[in-house]
Amino acid sequence: MLTKREAGAQFPFTSTTITDMAMGQKTIFEAVVSRVQELREQIHYHNYRYYVLDDPVISDPEFDRLLKELSRLEEEYPQLVTPDSPTQRVGAPPLDKFETVPHRQPMLSLENAFSEAEVREFDKRLKRFLRTSEEFHYVVEPKMDGCAVELVYENGRLTVGSTRGDGYRGENVTQNLKTIHTIPLEMLRHKQPPPELLEVRGEVYIDLEDFKKLNEQRLAQGEAAFANPRNAAAGSLRQLDPNITAGRPLKIYCYGVGEVQGRTFTRHWEVLEALREWGFRVNPLIEPAQGIEAAIAYHHRLEHERHGLPYEIDGMVIKVDSLALQDRLGTKARSPRWALAYKFAATQATTRVLKIEVNVGRTGAVTPMAVMEPVEVGGVTVSRATLHNEDEVARKDVRAGDFVLVQRAGDVIPEVVKVILEDRPKDARPFQMPKICPVCGTPLVRPPGEKVTRCPNPDCFGRKGSEFEGGALPRRIEHFASKTAMDIDGLGKEMILKMVSEDLVKDVSDLYKLTAEELITLTEKPDKKKKSGKLANKIIKAILNSKNPTFWRLVNALGIRLVGEAQAQILAQHFQKLEDLGEASEEKLKDIEGIGEKRAASIKDYFENQKNKEIIKKLRDAGVQERPPERRAASPLAGKSFVFTGGLARLSREEAKAMVTARGGKVSSSVSAKTDYVVVGAEPGSKYARAKELGVETLNEAEFEELIRRSG
Ligand code: IVH
Repeated sequence: MLTKREAGAQFPFTSTTITDMAMGQKTIFEAVVSRVQELREQIHYHNYRYYVLDDPVISDPEFDRLLKELSRLEEEYPQLVTPDSPTQRVGAPPLDKFETVPHRQPMLSLENAFSEAEVREFDKRLKRFLRTSEEFHYVVEPKMDGCAVELVYENGRLTVGSTRGDGYRGENVTQNLKTIHTIPLEMLRHKQPPPELLEVRGEVYIDLEDFKKLNEQRLAQGEAAFANPRNAAAGSLRQLDPNITAGRPLKIYCYGVGEVQGRTFTRHWEVLEALREWGFRVNPLIEPAQGIEAAIAYHHRLEHERHGLPYEIDGMVIKVDSLALQDRLGTKARSPRWALAYKFAATQATTRVLKIEVNVGRTGAVTPMAVMEPVEVGGVTVSRATLHNEDEVARKDVRAGDFVLVQRAGDVIPEVVKVILEDRPKDARPFQMPKICPVCGTPLVRPPGEKVTRCPNPDCFGRKGSEFEGGALPRRIEHFASKTAMDIDGLGKEMILKMVSEDLVKDVSDLYKLTAEELITLTEKPDKKKKSGKLANKIIKAILNSKNPTFWRLVNALGIRLVGEAQAQILAQHFQKLEDLGEASEEKLKDIEGIGEKRAASIKDYFENQKNKEIIKKLRDAGVQERPPERRAASPLAGKSFVFTGGLARLSREEAKAMVTARGGKVSSSVSAKTDYVVVGAEPGSKYARAKELGVETLNEAEFEELIRRSG
């Protein structure tokens, strides 16, 4: 990281103030004019560092000071306010309607291809057209799924910005586009001068994470959610009041130019490089590709990577790099001959909801699921989709019998996007969350302010893992014996199920009473006596060996609601014995960072429960005794820095962070060259792209868990 002074030294502009200036040589007004100019250049540059490069060289307060100074001067000297001043990004008055503006060159669309055969045919067609057998240099780009815009710069200043419209005329949305921080109001000049006229083309879009937040906000305010990020981007751009647009998390990636005067280019790649130097945001995933096979290989890679990207793409674009060849190839009616959109297979499909079921999870959480007629989505057959919780079902108003649009994003469970209301059967009734647990009959609870409905019965037979049939107790034993709990090696699912069905184990403490003989009877197969004896002995040994776990493993093993491995590790920093934890006041627990109110209450509930008290006593009687907390300094993760992006499926963000900090690692919120690992979940943010750019090691959730496991 640069110190401020170093950053200042690298910074291409000076930072004098008016009072520093030699007043004798200039009138005050001249000094103001030049200071205003200087401030604008500095602000444009720092905007670019912050929003486009994601690599600021001054702090936020320093930036604010520059902006404030400029606003103050402009207030005092309103005649100096220009439309491209950074103070003018927001605050323009609402319009009655949009004017339309012509595009100097039409904004064409792209021909689509959906298969490798079509893509190879495109390449052949170009070769035939140009009568050549030489391989083309292509440029391959992600096809952003947003809203196309044109930005007109005259002598480096943004003058007009418009939507694509009918391709020949678009709506003048200049004021709205100006609110997007990744759009330069003024082109940077420090690498090359701006041409007299430049029409920049690009896609305005919204990151998936921002889209989710935007929809949550809208729902909280009683407004309708946007169906997808593309609609949200287009809708936000077409607001008559720029102040509304300013509040929307819009971004841009620029991918080409229209009319250019005062500068010539020979290759598309050169155009992209120049755009970067002028301060435009260009997708770092754009690559050159030598020949059509390289372009097809890029499609394969992109198809894999797309689910890790912070934004939606619907395919790739293949473009002939040479502008001379582009000219020779020319255009067809609506699309250029030199480019092709190679789309991905649809990840959405429609199907019918047969019924809505509720599932009970290990913690007792009750989740509604749509059971659907099987349908293929993005190459995978799906028949169930999560509906998350009661509020979500109500929001989407999904009913048994409805036709729904389902989508798969990455490897996450498919979800219902929306109901196709026109096809709703007349007798479809709204979903009602059951009042009692469908498995054990206990009345369900939904604490005020929480979204999750729960079955409060700790012995509910439905508290089973998704693939673990057999009820609550086997699942609890499996958790108790797992690697990050008591670590009882060799105790497999099948064996646990037998123990439970033979009534040998009625709660986890009974494990310590098992004898090898009893186990042999469970594993016995007439012809494999010897083998089962060996296995039984191995398990008994593992059970005995598990009697002295570290404190956090024991706490994790108990399966206290909302307390997993990470919280157990946090608690281990404050307590050394189970009894101390059991006696701790709710007040004390809730003040521990990473525990909080809900977990504190759940811990109290657990230790106050008579059955649990008995289990703990029985564990003690059996000789289970925790070791004092392990020293963490020796962990290989000590001092390593982690950044998280995207949703994790098995862990909460908080849990994952605690796993790192408990091992002496650090968690930070932004990726830099010093970051050791970026943990990438579903629908990650821009941090993922940043990690790739910087070559920082990325881990998926499973790899992260493995790393944690290996580091003790
Ligand atoms: S080039 C003449 N490059 O796709 C070529 N378009 O159907 C014009 N799009 O409306 C487009 N990402 O909004 C190009 N990297 C990319 C793109 C891209 C998304 C959109 C664009 C256009 C549509 C074409």
